[in-house]
Amino acid sequence: TGLVTLDPGFGNTAACSSAITYIDGDAGILRYRGYPIEQLADKANFLEVSYLLIYGELPTATEYADFAERVSRHTMLDEDLRQFFSGFPRNAHPMPVLSSAVSALSTFYQDTLNPRDDEAQELATVRLMAKLPTLAAYTYKKSIGQPFLYPDNSLGLVENFLRLTFGVPAEEYGLDPEIVRALDLLFILHADHEQNCSTSTVRLVGSSEANLFSSISSAINALSGPLHGGANAAVMDMLEEIKASGGDVDSFVRRVKNKEAGVKLMGFGHRVYKNYDPRARLVKNVADTIIGKLAGGDELLDIATALEERALSDDYFVERKLYPNVDFYTGLIYRAMGFPTHFFTVLFALGRLPGWIAHYREMVHDPATKIGRPRQIYTGAAERSFVPMEQR
Ligand code: CMC
Repeated sequence: TGLVTLDPGFGNTAACSSAITYIDGDAGILRYRGYPIEQLADKANFLEVSYLLIYGELPTATEYADFAERVSRHTMLDEDLRQFFSGFPRNAHPMPVLSSAVSALSTFYQDTLNPRDDEAQELATVRLMAKLPTLAAYTYKKSIGQPFLYPDNSLGLVENFLRLTFGVPAEEYGLDPEIVRALDLLFILHADHEQNCSTSTVRLVGSSEANLFSSISSAINALSGPLHGGANAAVMDMLEEIKASGGDVDSFVRRVKNKEAGVKLMGFGHRVYKNYDPRARLVKNVADTIIGKLAGGDELLDIATALEERALSDDYFVERKLYPNVDFYTGLIYRAMGFPTHFFTVLFALGRLPGWIAHYREMVHDPATKIGRPRQIYTGAAERSFVPMEQR
């Protein structure tokens, strides 16, 4: 069987080659298809970046218009899929509801399951890009007992999502262009991050030739954990906890340094970045403007800022090269926009979708792809003889 190397968490093992995203964790550099994240955040929109990730090049005006139109034509859900939401308790966490709904897409769209059929994959791609925002908004509507709205295809992807989430049938929903832009930008920052836990999940599940919907459904589950996408909600819980204790940042940092069970500085640290996460820098700028505008300031933002300053000047964090990651400030922005904490990770999923799709498609077309099948180091009992039950 050859030599097997133990590498927990795959910290040192490349499982594939990829031309999608480049990260230099020491220098704090992130590029999608060669374009620096700062330029994309400043100049592009989320749908354009999605196209870039999935197809490899920035779209021309015609390509963009065509993609946008195709996506907007698939935003509706099958009416039976709308009924699906009644099967969950109202207080259900939206992440398992979302992953179940995406899994269910493979029962509604059986014509787009074959990973070897490029045309089918193209349609599955457009369906997912179009329907995930609708599904996400419906998980929210279900949780607060409001009626589902139908998508409005005159709106862009982010506008549609905001209206489906916060609008009601009884009145016109007033879109705030600054919120639309801020959410669009956050989606861009989340759109891909090479072989993170959820993306590796897409590749591992997809390597068995499971269909795109099933693979993305698995990725949503992988994203839900607090060490991955769930961190944005966990940061908020942490800030609330510090606020409840009178805003005592020092004593919280002491508990982190003492490695008290389960106490980490959420939103800090990264497997790859050993420098300031370039996304966190951009998120902080959005936080300052959006929170100032919408909430007239937020005490939790002050606590977060104090916490960051305190950590960045503390040996524990300096020695371990722990910096704020993308999740440190996003929750505060989502909260100012009106999203409840348990919905934050759904927003991460919406942003990450084009990256997941791009990796699935790259994997399917890579002749080097093999079914994912890690090895192990066996540590159990040596051979022994069966003992009948009455003799045990
Ligand atoms: N708070 C306190 N100590 C930490 C933290 C933290 N947030 N992160 C790492 N450490 C310590 C860790 O205890 C270890 O210390 P020691 O050397 O004394 O044992 C050292 O730093 C190295 O950490 P590690 O656990 O080996 O690092 P990792 O690469 O396995 O984990 C991580 C990366 C992101 C899971 C981890 O930093 C973490 O749990 N952070 C908090 C959760 C979080 O914010 N996750 C979001 C990540 S970014 C967006 C995303 O991917 O979803």
